[in-house]
Amino acid sequence: MKKYDFDEPIERRGTDCFKWDALPSMYGRGDLLPMWVADMDFRSPDFVMDALMRRCQHPVLGYTMPSEDYWNAVKGWMSKHYGINVTQEQLHFIPGIVAGIAYALLCLTQPGDKVLVTTPVYPPFLNLPKGSERTLVCSPLKIEEGRFAIDFDDFERKVDGCKLFIMSNPHNPAGTVWGADVLRHIAEICQRKGVVVISDEIHADLTLPPHRHVSYSTVSEAAAQNSITFLAPSKTFNIAGLGSSVCYIADDRLRKRFFGWLDTLGVAGGNIFAFAGAEAAYAQGEEWLTQMLDYLKENVRTLDGFLKERLPKVKAVLPEASYLAWLDFSAYGIAHKELADRLVNEAKVALNDGTTFGGKAYENCFRINLGCPRAMLIDGLERIEGILN
Ligand SMILES: Cc1ncc(COP(=O)(O)O)c(C=O)c1O
Repeated sequence: MKKYDFDEPIERRGTDCFKWDALPSMYGRGDLLPMWVADMDFRSPDFVMDALMRRCQHPVLGYTMPSEDYWNAVKGWMSKHYGINVTQEQLHFIPGIVAGIAYALLCLTQPGDKVLVTTPVYPPFLNLPKGSERTLVCSPLKIEEGRFAIDFDDFERKVDGCKLFIMSNPHNPAGTVWGADVLRHIAEICQRKGVVVISDEIHADLTLPPHRHVSYSTVSEAAAQNSITFLAPSKTFNIAGLGSSVCYIADDRLRKRFFGWLDTLGVAGGNIFAFAGAEAAYAQGEEWLTQMLDYLKENVRTLDGFLKERLPKVKAVLPEASYLAWLDFSAYGIAHKELADRLVNEAKVALNDGTTFGGKAYENCFRINLGCPRAMLIDGLERIEGILN
């Protein structure tokens, strides 16, 4: 059995890498430790690289299409990891999940229609409805026993009159795993109110054992009938730059409507590397993923231990899936602008500002990305400690 090395530092600067090379434009300086954008500073798996290089041996990069082997790899992964046995016609290639959500918004809603999200949430969930002149409705999550929870009284009130609910399952930030009961409750309410649910499951494969991912469409007949599910190997295998995702719809009518729209837009053709990379990842990725999740779990434990021992005033929501933790600095009583400035200009770390996940309510919070070699994580935490203690 091959042992993968996730401690290896990889120089990513100078590769047009958003996480490192966009620091000057996003934070005003390039000398920061980037713990923001949700990709990992680990080597992408060797079997994915080999597949891409093999394809490059052929001298023509003309128009392509998804092969049967690609679809079999996707279907095999969905069956094994999510317990969904799908037919190929229930799947559609998508060049990225943010794009997929945008296509769904444009297909299923009109300007002015109400779209629900639960905050704090991945910023494009807020920006897509706003940018397409839909009416954004936010239902704030509660924190219960250190984890995010849906406030169902608020949710039920707010979802009234909405056309769509965009859900991060697991939730970004903080990788909250939604259990089957929670998802069933959402499905029951949304079906009763005629709301379509978009279940963005991009972080599903990164669910950290003993937590278990539950794919939304599997929890009830209502969930299967009213949902669009997005999945991708991009976070799982650190290949987000390949732009390779998949959409799954169980319901015939909804599928015909949305897939017809996708075909009108001409996104089915995909691209050569998206198919080759995803096929290799799904067909050969089990061992790599198991080892990587072990490493991430240890990074979560490292963060938890560091906070308890050295920064006990920071309140954290730790990930149950993925590598994104939510840190609340309220107890330090530092004004938002000053804290943001000190993190960048004194600690020299780039975190995601909480306000971008849902506005002023989250101005004492920042999201930190733990998907990096442990030495880098500890360096980042020590830098943060240095400006607080
Ligand atoms: C919940 C969620 N959805 C979608 C994305 C991005 O997906 P894509 O790169 O396929 O557009 C991210 C990336 O951080 C995410 O966290």
